[in-house]
Amino acid sequence: MHYIEQAVTSASQVLRAKSGEAASLKGWVARKNQIGGLVFVLVRDGSGYVQVSGRKGVSPEPALESMRSVTIESAVQLEGRVKEDPRAPGGREVSINTFQVIAKAEKWPITKTAAKSPSFLYDMRHLSMRGRKIVATMKIRTEITDAVFDFFRENDFFLISAPIFVQAAVEGGATLFGMDYFGRRAFLSQSAQFYEEAALPALEKVWIFQPAFRAEKSRTPKHLTEFWMIEAEQAFADLPMILTLQERLLAFIARRVLDRRTDELGILGRKISEPNLPLQRMTYDEARAIAGKKGVEFVWGEDLPTKAEKAISLTQDEPFFITDYPLSARSFYHATYDDRPNVTKSADLIAPEGIGELATGGQRIDKYETLIERLRDQGISAESLSWYLDLRRFGMPPHAGFGIGVERTTRWIAGLRHIRAAALFPRTPTRIYP
Ligand code: 4AD
Ligand code: MG
Repeated sequence: MHYIEQAVTSASQVLRAKSGEAASLKGWVARKNQIGGLVFVLVRDGSGYVQVSGRKGVSPEPALESMRSVTIESAVQLEGRVKEDPRAPGGREVSINTFQVIAKAEKWPITKTAAKSPSFLYDMRHLSMRGRKIVATMKIRTEITDAVFDFFRENDFFLISAPIFVQAAVEGGATLFGMDYFGRRAFLSQSAQFYEEAALPALEKVWIFQPAFRAEKSRTPKHLTEFWMIEAEQAFADLPMILTLQERLLAFIARRVLDRRTDELGILGRKISEPNLPLQRMTYDEARAIAGKKGVEFVWGEDLPTKAEKAISLTQDEPFFITDYPLSARSFYHATYDDRPNVTKSADLIAPEGIGELATGGQRIDKYETLIERLRDQGISAESLSWYLDLRRFGMPPHAGFGIGVERTTRWIAGLRHIRAAALFPRTPTRIYP
Protein backbone atom coordinates (compact mmCIF):
# COMPACT_ATOMS: atom_id res chain seq x y z
CA MET A 1 0.00 0.00 0.00
CA HIS A 2 1.20 3.49 -0.86
CA TYR A 3 1.36 6.09 1.87
CA ILE A 4 0.11 9.46 0.59
CA GLU A 5 1.35 12.31 2.71
CA GLN A 6 -1.30 14.88 3.68
CA ALA A 7 -0.09 18.44 3.20
CA VAL A 8 -1.32 21.46 5.16
CA THR A 9 -2.99 23.82 2.73
CA SER A 10 -3.50 27.18 4.45
CA ALA A 11 -1.41 29.76 6.27
CA SER A 12 -3.29 29.23 9.52
CA GLN A 13 -2.75 25.46 9.32
CA VAL A 14 0.99 26.00 8.87
CA LEU A 15 1.08 27.96 12.13
CA ARG A 16 -0.41 24.96 13.94
CA ALA A 17 1.59 22.25 12.11
CA LYS A 18 4.58 20.26 13.30
CA SER A 19 8.10 20.65 11.95
CA GLY A 20 8.62 18.51 8.90
CA GLU A 21 4.99 18.42 7.74
CA ALA A 22 4.42 19.01 4.03
CA ALA A 23 2.79 22.30 3.02
CA SER A 24 1.07 23.13 -0.26
CA LEU A 25 -0.25 26.68 -0.44
CA LYS A 26 -1.82 29.18 -2.78
CA GLY A 27 -1.88 32.87 -1.95
CA TRP A 28 -0.53 36.35 -2.62
CA VAL A 29 2.86 37.93 -1.99
CA ALA A 30 2.54 40.49 0.79
CA ARG A 31 6.25 41.21 1.30
CA LYS A 32 9.64 40.10 0.07
CA ASN A 33 13.11 40.29 1.65
CA GLN A 34 16.57 39.15 0.61
CA ILE A 35 19.43 38.89 3.05
CA GLY A 36 22.58 37.39 1.55
CA GLY A 37 21.67 33.94 0.28
CA LEU A 38 18.32 33.96 2.06
CA VAL A 39 15.01 34.88 0.46
CA PHE A 40 11.88 35.46 2.50
CA VAL A 41 8.43 35.87 1.03
CA LEU A 42 5.45 36.64 3.25
CA VAL A 43 2.44 34.95 1.71
CA ARG A 44 -1.17 35.87 2.49
CA ASP A 45 -4.19 33.67 1.91
CA GLY A 46 -7.76 33.82 3.16
CA SER A 47 -6.72 32.42 6.52
CA GLY A 48 -3.76 34.70 7.28
CA TYR A 49 -0.04 35.14 6.69
CA VAL A 50 2.87 32.73 6.54
CA GLN A 51 6.56 33.23 5.91
CA VAL A 52 8.16 31.22 3.15
CA SER A 53 11.94 30.92 3.09
CA GLY A 54 14.58 29.77 0.63
CA ARG A 55 18.30 29.36 1.13
CA LYS A 56 20.93 29.37 -1.57
CA GLY A 57 22.66 26.00 -1.88
CA VAL A 58 19.88 24.26 0.09
CA SER A 59 16.58 25.09 -1.68
CA PRO A 60 16.06 24.10 -5.33
CA GLU A 61 17.44 26.85 -7.59
CA PRO A 62 14.27 27.26 -9.79
CA ALA A 63 12.16 27.92 -6.68
CA LEU A 64 14.73 30.42 -5.36
CA GLU A 65 14.88 32.23 -8.68
CA SER A 66 11.10 32.45 -8.84
CA MET A 67 11.00 33.87 -5.28
CA ARG A 68 13.68 36.44 -6.04
CA SER A 69 11.85 37.79 -9.07
CA VAL A 70 8.27 37.66 -7.80
CA THR A 71 6.45 41.01 -7.52
CA ILE A 72 4.37 42.17 -4.56
CA GLU A 73 0.72 41.03 -4.75
CA SER A 74 1.35 38.38 -7.38
CA ALA A 75 -0.71 35.22 -6.91
CA VAL A 76 1.54 32.24 -6.23
CA GLN A 77 1.49 28.53 -5.61
CA LEU A 78 4.16 26.80 -3.55
CA GLU A 79 5.22 23.63 -1.84
CA GLY A 80 7.62 23.05 0.99
CA ARG A 81 8.04 21.82 4.55
CA VAL A 82 7.00 23.38 7.81
CA LYS A 83 9.91 24.46 9.95
CA GLU A 84 9.73 25.79 13.49
CA ASP A 85 11.59 29.07 13.73
CA PRO A 86 11.09 31.50 16.60
CA ARG A 87 12.13 34.41 14.32
CA ALA A 88 9.30 33.75 11.85
CA PRO A 89 5.92 35.46 12.42
CA GLY A 90 3.85 32.89 14.32
CA GLY A 91 6.92 30.77 15.06
CA ARG A 92 6.70 28.68 11.85
CA GLU A 93 7.77 29.07 8.26
CA VAL A 94 7.67 27.01 5.12
CA SER A 95 11.04 26.10 3.73
CA ILE A 96 10.59 26.13 -0.01
CA ASN A 97 10.66 23.31 -2.51
CA THR A 98 8.66 24.70 -5.46
CA PHE A 99 7.42 28.26 -6.04
CA GLN A 100 5.34 29.28 -9.05
CA VAL A 101 3.77 32.56 -10.07
CA ILE A 102 0.14 32.03 -11.14
CA ALA A 103 -0.76 35.67 -11.83
CA LYS A 104 1.93 38.32 -11.94
CA ALA A 105 1.13 41.70 -10.39
CA GLU A 106 2.33 44.98 -11.88
CA LYS A 107 4.16 47.51 -9.75
CA TRP A 108 1.99 48.02 -6.65
CA PRO A 109 0.61 51.57 -6.69
CA ILE A 110 0.09 51.92 -2.94
CA THR A 111 3.46 53.16 -1.77
CA LYS A 112 4.24 53.92 1.89
CA THR A 113 3.96 57.65 1.21
CA ALA A 114 0.71 57.35 -0.76
CA ALA A 115 -0.74 55.17 2.00
CA LYS A 116 -0.59 58.16 4.36
CA SER A 117 -3.57 59.73 2.58
CA PRO A 118 -6.89 58.22 3.71
CA SER A 119 -8.74 59.59 0.67
CA PHE A 120 -6.19 57.97 -1.67
CA LEU A 121 -6.63 54.66 0.16
CA TYR A 122 -10.41 54.91 -0.28
CA ASP A 123 -9.99 55.79 -3.97
CA MET A 124 -7.87 52.64 -4.22
CA ARG A 125 -10.15 50.57 -1.99
CA HIS A 126 -10.36 47.80 -4.61
CA LEU A 127 -6.64 47.22 -3.96
CA SER A 128 -6.07 48.67 -0.50
CA MET A 129 -8.68 46.28 0.93
CA ARG A 130 -5.97 43.61 0.97
CA GLY A 131 -4.32 45.40 3.88
CA ARG A 132 -4.03 43.64 7.22
CA LYS A 133 -6.32 45.94 9.19
CA ILE A 134 -9.01 46.06 6.53
CA VAL A 135 -9.00 42.28 6.25
CA ALA A 136 -9.25 42.00 10.04
CA THR A 137 -12.19 44.42 10.03
CA MET A 138 -13.99 42.44 7.33
CA LYS A 139 -13.49 39.17 9.18
CA ILE A 140 -14.98 40.77 12.29
CA ARG A 141 -17.91 42.08 10.25
CA THR A 142 -18.54 38.59 8.86
CA GLU A 143 -18.40 37.16 12.37
CA ILE A 144 -20.97 39.73 13.48
CA THR A 145 -23.43 38.95 10.68
CA ASP A 146 -22.94 35.18 11.06
CA ALA A 147 -23.69 35.56 14.77
CA VAL A 148 -26.87 37.49 13.96
CA PHE A 149 -28.10 34.67 11.71
CA ASP A 150 -27.43 32.15 14.49
CA PHE A 151 -29.08 34.32 17.13
CA PHE A 152 -32.33 34.74 15.24
CA ARG A 153 -32.46 31.10 14.20
CA GLU A 154 -32.02 30.03 17.83
CA ASN A 155 -34.78 32.43 18.86
CA ASP A 156 -37.30 31.22 16.24
CA PHE A 157 -37.34 34.36 14.10
CA PHE A 158 -38.02 33.93 10.39
CA LEU A 159 -35.76 35.74 7.93
CA ILE A 160 -37.90 37.55 5.37
CA SER A 161 -37.10 39.83 2.47
CA ALA A 162 -38.62 43.16 1.50
CA PRO A 163 -38.45 45.40 -1.57
CA ILE A 164 -35.80 48.07 -2.04
CA PHE A 165 -37.98 50.05 -4.51
CA VAL A 166 -40.71 51.59 -2.36
CA GLN A 167 -43.30 54.35 -2.43
CA ALA A 168 -43.27 55.63 1.14
CA ALA A 169 -40.92 57.04 3.75
CA VAL A 170 -40.49 55.08 6.98
CA GLU A 171 -38.12 57.57 8.60
CA GLY A 172 -39.25 60.90 7.14
CA GLY A 173 -39.10 62.41 3.67
CA ALA A 174 -35.91 64.42 4.20
CA THR A 175 -33.55 61.48 3.69
CA LEU A 176 -35.32 59.69 0.82
CA PHE A 177 -33.46 58.91 -2.38
CA GLY A 178 -36.02 59.42 -5.14
CA MET A 179 -36.02 57.92 -8.60
CA ASP A 180 -38.11 57.49 -11.69
CA TYR A 181 -39.93 54.16 -11.82
CA PHE A 182 -41.36 53.89 -15.35
CA GLY A 183 -42.88 57.32 -15.09
CA ARG A 184 -43.88 56.99 -11.46
CA ARG A 185 -42.05 58.33 -8.41
CA ALA A 186 -40.26 55.69 -6.35
CA PHE A 187 -37.71 55.71 -3.54
CA LEU A 188 -34.93 53.53 -2.23
CA SER A 189 -35.97 51.86 1.03
CA GLN A 190 -34.91 53.53 4.29
CA SER A 191 -36.06 50.61 6.42
CA ALA A 192 -37.99 47.38 5.90
CA GLN A 193 -39.97 47.84 9.08
CA PHE A 194 -43.44 48.25 7.51
CA TYR A 195 -43.00 45.05 5.52
CA GLU A 196 -41.91 43.23 8.65
CA GLU A 197 -45.05 44.46 10.40
CA ALA A 198 -47.13 43.07 7.52
CA ALA A 199 -45.42 39.71 7.99
CA LEU A 200 -46.22 39.42 11.71
CA PRO A 201 -49.71 37.91 11.45
CA ALA A 202 -48.19 35.34 9.09
CA LEU A 203 -44.99 34.50 10.98
CA GLU A 204 -45.21 36.20 14.40
CA LYS A 205 -41.47 36.83 14.76
CA VAL A 206 -39.47 38.04 11.76
CA TRP A 207 -36.13 39.62 10.97
CA ILE A 208 -34.47 41.07 7.95
CA PHE A 209 -30.94 41.67 6.68
CA GLN A 210 -30.66 44.02 3.73
CA PRO A 211 -29.37 47.39 2.53
CA ALA A 212 -31.00 50.66 3.54
CA PHE A 213 -30.52 54.05 1.95
CA ARG A 214 -30.48 57.53 3.44
CA ALA A 215 -29.83 60.77 1.61
CA GLU A 216 -27.94 62.16 4.61
CA LYS A 217 -25.94 65.11 3.36
CA SER A 218 -24.14 65.48 6.67
CA ARG A 219 -20.59 64.18 6.59
CA THR A 220 -20.13 62.57 9.97
CA PRO A 221 -18.17 59.59 11.27
CA LYS A 222 -21.44 57.68 11.74
CA HIS A 223 -23.41 58.20 8.53
CA LEU A 224 -23.30 56.36 5.24
CA THR A 225 -25.79 56.86 2.42
CA GLU A 226 -26.00 53.11 1.84
CA PHE A 227 -25.66 50.68 4.72
CA TRP A 228 -26.85 47.26 5.87
CA MET A 229 -29.57 47.00 8.41
CA ILE A 230 -30.66 44.18 10.67
CA GLU A 231 -34.27 44.63 11.73
CA ALA A 232 -36.46 42.47 13.91
CA GLU A 233 -40.18 42.70 14.62
CA GLN A 234 -42.24 40.69 17.07
CA ALA A 235 -46.00 40.31 17.58
CA PHE A 236 -47.53 40.52 21.08
CA ALA A 237 -44.45 42.45 22.19
CA ASP A 238 -43.89 45.74 23.98
CA LEU A 239 -40.92 48.07 24.49
CA PRO A 240 -39.34 46.23 27.46
CA MET A 241 -39.45 42.91 25.56
CA ILE A 242 -37.75 44.41 22.54
CA LEU A 243 -35.03 46.00 24.69
CA THR A 244 -34.27 42.59 26.18
CA LEU A 245 -34.08 41.10 22.70
CA GLN A 246 -31.67 43.84 21.55
CA GLU A 247 -29.32 43.54 24.50
CA ARG A 248 -29.24 39.75 24.21
CA LEU A 249 -28.38 40.11 20.52
CA LEU A 250 -25.61 42.60 21.25
CA ALA A 251 -24.09 40.42 23.98
CA PHE A 252 -24.32 37.37 21.69
CA ILE A 253 -22.46 39.23 18.93
CA ALA A 254 -19.75 40.49 21.29
CA ARG A 255 -19.24 37.01 22.81
CA ARG A 256 -18.94 35.45 19.37
CA VAL A 257 -16.38 37.96 18.13
CA LEU A 258 -14.38 37.69 21.36
CA ASP A 259 -14.34 33.90 21.06
CA ARG A 260 -13.54 33.61 17.38
CA ARG A 261 -11.78 36.79 16.29
CA THR A 262 -9.19 37.35 18.99
CA ASP A 263 -6.38 37.69 16.45
CA GLU A 264 -8.30 40.24 14.39
CA LEU A 265 -9.18 42.31 17.46
CA GLY A 266 -5.46 42.18 18.31
CA ILE A 267 -4.47 43.39 14.82
CA LEU A 268 -6.80 46.37 15.32
CA GLY A 269 -5.55 46.93 18.87
CA ARG A 270 -9.15 46.69 20.08
CA LYS A 271 -10.05 45.73 23.63
CA ILE A 272 -13.72 45.12 24.35
CA SER A 273 -15.58 42.84 26.69
CA GLU A 274 -18.98 41.20 26.58
CA PRO A 275 -21.50 43.71 27.95
CA ASN A 276 -23.08 42.84 31.29
CA LEU A 277 -26.83 42.38 31.05
CA PRO A 278 -29.18 44.00 31.66
CA LEU A 279 -27.76 47.12 30.05
CA GLN A 280 -28.42 50.37 31.78
CA ARG A 281 -31.62 52.18 30.80
CA MET A 282 -32.05 55.91 31.16
CA THR A 283 -34.93 58.02 29.92
CA TYR A 284 -34.63 60.86 27.43
CA ASP A 285 -35.29 63.25 30.32
CA GLU A 286 -32.44 61.75 32.34
CA ALA A 287 -30.16 61.81 29.30
CA ARG A 288 -31.05 65.45 28.72
CA ALA A 289 -30.12 66.26 32.33
CA ILE A 290 -26.74 64.49 31.96
CA ALA A 291 -26.02 66.37 28.73
CA GLY A 292 -26.99 69.63 30.45
CA LYS A 293 -24.47 68.95 33.22
CA LYS A 294 -21.83 68.40 30.52
CA GLY A 295 -22.69 71.78 29.05
CA VAL A 296 -24.78 70.55 26.10
CA GLU A 297 -28.27 71.97 26.39
CA PHE A 298 -31.25 71.47 24.10
CA VAL A 299 -34.98 72.00 24.13
CA TRP A 300 -37.26 69.20 25.32
CA GLY A 301 -38.82 67.68 22.21
CA GLU A 302 -35.77 67.99 19.96
CA ASP A 303 -34.05 64.81 18.87
CA LEU A 304 -30.89 64.21 20.87
CA PRO A 305 -28.29 66.42 19.16
CA THR A 306 -25.13 64.59 18.09
CA LYS A 307 -23.09 66.60 20.60
CA ALA A 308 -25.37 65.56 23.44
CA GLU A 309 -25.39 61.93 22.35
CA LYS A 310 -21.59 61.98 22.29
CA ALA A 311 -21.31 63.67 25.68
CA ILE A 312 -23.65 61.12 27.30
CA SER A 313 -21.98 58.23 25.52
CA LEU A 314 -18.61 59.31 26.95
CA THR A 315 -20.00 59.00 30.48
CA GLN A 316 -20.61 55.24 30.00
CA ASP A 317 -18.29 52.31 29.48
CA GLU A 318 -20.86 49.82 28.26
CA PRO A 319 -23.68 50.16 25.74
CA PHE A 320 -26.91 51.51 27.24
CA PHE A 321 -30.46 52.46 26.29
CA ILE A 322 -32.07 55.87 26.15
CA THR A 323 -35.85 55.37 26.29
CA ASP A 324 -39.05 57.43 26.02
CA TYR A 325 -38.20 59.95 23.32
CA PRO A 326 -40.63 62.80 22.66
CA LEU A 327 -43.04 62.14 19.82
CA SER A 328 -41.73 65.24 18.05
CA ALA A 329 -38.32 63.56 17.74
CA ARG A 330 -39.62 60.30 16.24
CA SER A 331 -41.32 59.01 13.13
CA PHE A 332 -45.14 58.90 12.96
CA TYR A 333 -45.64 55.16 13.62
CA HIS A 334 -44.49 55.18 17.25
CA ALA A 335 -46.88 54.20 20.04
CA THR A 336 -47.13 56.66 22.92
CA TYR A 337 -47.91 56.22 26.63
CA ASP A 338 -51.61 56.50 27.51
CA ASP A 339 -50.88 59.04 30.24
CA ARG A 340 -48.17 60.87 28.26
CA PRO A 341 -49.35 61.31 24.66
CA ASN A 342 -46.18 63.26 23.75
CA VAL A 343 -43.80 60.50 24.81
CA THR A 344 -43.10 57.43 22.67
CA LYS A 345 -42.49 53.86 23.76
CA SER A 346 -39.18 53.90 21.97
CA ALA A 347 -35.49 53.59 22.67
CA ASP A 348 -32.05 53.98 21.17
CA LEU A 349 -29.22 51.63 21.96
CA ILE A 350 -26.11 53.75 22.41
CA ALA A 351 -22.50 52.60 22.31
CA PRO A 352 -20.00 54.08 24.77
CA GLU A 353 -16.72 55.89 23.98
CA GLY A 354 -18.52 58.62 22.08
CA ILE A 355 -19.55 56.23 19.30
CA GLY A 356 -23.27 56.78 19.84
CA GLU A 357 -26.39 55.21 18.36
CA LEU A 358 -26.27 51.58 17.32
CA ALA A 359 -29.98 50.81 17.14
CA THR A 360 -33.43 52.33 17.33
CA GLY A 361 -36.58 50.48 18.25
CA GLY A 362 -39.90 50.63 19.96
CA GLN A 363 -43.55 49.76 20.06
CA ARG A 364 -45.75 50.61 17.06
CA ILE A 365 -49.26 51.99 16.85
CA ASP A 366 -51.51 48.95 16.49
CA LYS A 367 -54.95 50.67 16.44
CA TYR A 368 -56.40 51.87 13.14
CA GLU A 369 -58.00 55.04 14.57
CA THR A 370 -54.83 56.08 16.38
CA LEU A 371 -52.74 55.69 13.25
CA ILE A 372 -55.22 57.64 11.08
CA GLU A 373 -55.24 60.40 13.66
CA ARG A 374 -51.43 60.47 13.84
CA LEU A 375 -51.09 60.74 10.07
CA ARG A 376 -53.62 63.56 10.06
CA ASP A 377 -51.82 65.38 12.92
CA GLN A 378 -48.52 65.18 11.09
CA GLY A 379 -49.93 66.05 7.67
CA ILE A 380 -48.75 62.78 6.12
CA SER A 381 -50.69 61.50 3.11
CA ALA A 382 -52.31 58.13 3.81
CA GLU A 383 -52.41 57.26 0.12
CA SER A 384 -49.17 55.34 -0.28
CA LEU A 385 -49.64 53.94 3.23
CA SER A 386 -53.13 52.51 2.80
CA TRP A 387 -51.83 48.94 2.89
CA TYR A 388 -50.00 49.77 6.12
CA LEU A 389 -53.25 51.12 7.58
CA ASP A 390 -55.11 48.03 6.35
CA LEU A 391 -52.98 45.86 8.63
CA ARG A 392 -54.68 47.56 11.59
CA ARG A 393 -58.09 46.46 10.31
CA PHE A 394 -57.25 42.77 10.19
CA GLY A 395 -55.96 41.56 13.53
CA MET A 396 -52.86 43.59 14.36
CA PRO A 397 -51.86 42.99 17.98
CA PRO A 398 -49.48 45.19 19.98
CA HIS A 399 -46.04 44.70 18.48
CA ALA A 400 -42.54 46.09 18.63
CA GLY A 401 -39.23 45.90 16.84
CA PHE A 402 -35.89 47.49 16.22
CA GLY A 403 -33.24 48.15 13.60
CA ILE A 404 -29.49 47.96 14.15
CA GLY A 405 -26.90 49.04 11.60
CA VAL A 406 -24.25 46.50 10.58
CA GLU A 407 -21.58 49.15 9.99
CA ARG A 408 -22.35 50.96 13.26
CA THR A 409 -22.07 47.67 15.15
CA THR A 410 -18.83 46.80 13.36
CA ARG A 411 -17.51 50.27 14.14
CA TRP A 412 -18.12 49.76 17.84
CA ILE A 413 -16.89 46.16 18.08
CA ALA A 414 -13.76 46.85 16.00
CA GLY A 415 -13.19 50.29 17.52
CA LEU A 416 -13.10 52.16 14.19
CA ARG A 417 -12.72 55.92 14.12
CA HIS A 418 -15.02 56.32 11.11
CA ILE A 419 -17.98 54.24 9.95
CA ARG A 420 -16.66 54.10 6.39
CA ALA A 421 -13.94 51.71 7.57
CA ALA A 422 -16.70 49.20 8.38
CA ALA A 423 -17.86 49.07 4.75
CA LEU A 424 -15.81 47.45 2.02
CA PHE A 425 -16.93 49.99 -0.57
CA PRO A 426 -18.41 52.84 1.45
CA ARG A 427 -21.01 55.20 0.05
CA THR A 428 -21.04 58.73 1.43
CA PRO A 429 -22.29 62.03 -0.04
CA THR A 430 -18.90 62.51 -1.67
CA ARG A 431 -17.96 58.92 -2.47
CA ILE A 432 -19.51 56.63 -5.06
CA TYR A 433 -16.24 55.18 -6.45
CA PRO A 434 -14.96 52.47 -6.62
O1 4AD B 1 -32.69 54.73 13.69
P1 4AD B 1 -33.20 54.30 12.35
O2 4AD B 1 -33.48 55.35 11.37
O3 4AD B 1 -34.52 53.43 12.65
C1 4AD B 1 -35.25 52.81 11.67
O4 4AD B 1 -35.05 52.84 10.50
C2 4AD B 1 -36.37 51.94 12.20
N1 4AD B 1 -37.41 51.87 11.20
C3 4AD B 1 -35.80 50.59 12.54
C4 4AD B 1 -36.84 49.65 13.11
O5 4AD B 1 -37.35 49.91 14.17
N2 4AD B 1 -37.10 48.56 12.43
O6 4AD B 1 -32.19 53.27 11.72
C5 4AD B 1 -31.87 52.08 12.42
C6 4AD B 1 -30.37 51.92 12.55
C7 4AD B 1 -29.68 53.05 13.28
O7 4AD B 1 -29.74 52.89 14.67
C8 4AD B 1 -28.26 52.91 12.76
O8 4AD B 1 -27.57 51.83 13.37
C9 4AD B 1 -28.50 52.52 11.32
O9 4AD B 1 -29.78 51.93 11.25
N3 4AD B 1 -28.45 53.71 10.49
C10 4AD B 1 -27.38 54.09 9.78
N4 4AD B 1 -26.16 53.54 9.64
C11 4AD B 1 -25.28 54.17 8.83
N5 4AD B 1 -25.54 55.30 8.15
C12 4AD B 1 -26.76 55.90 8.26
N6 4AD B 1 -27.02 57.00 7.55
C13 4AD B 1 -27.74 55.28 9.11
N7 4AD B 1 -29.01 55.58 9.42
C14 4AD B 1 -29.43 54.62 10.26
MG1 MG C 1 -32.37 56.05 15.07
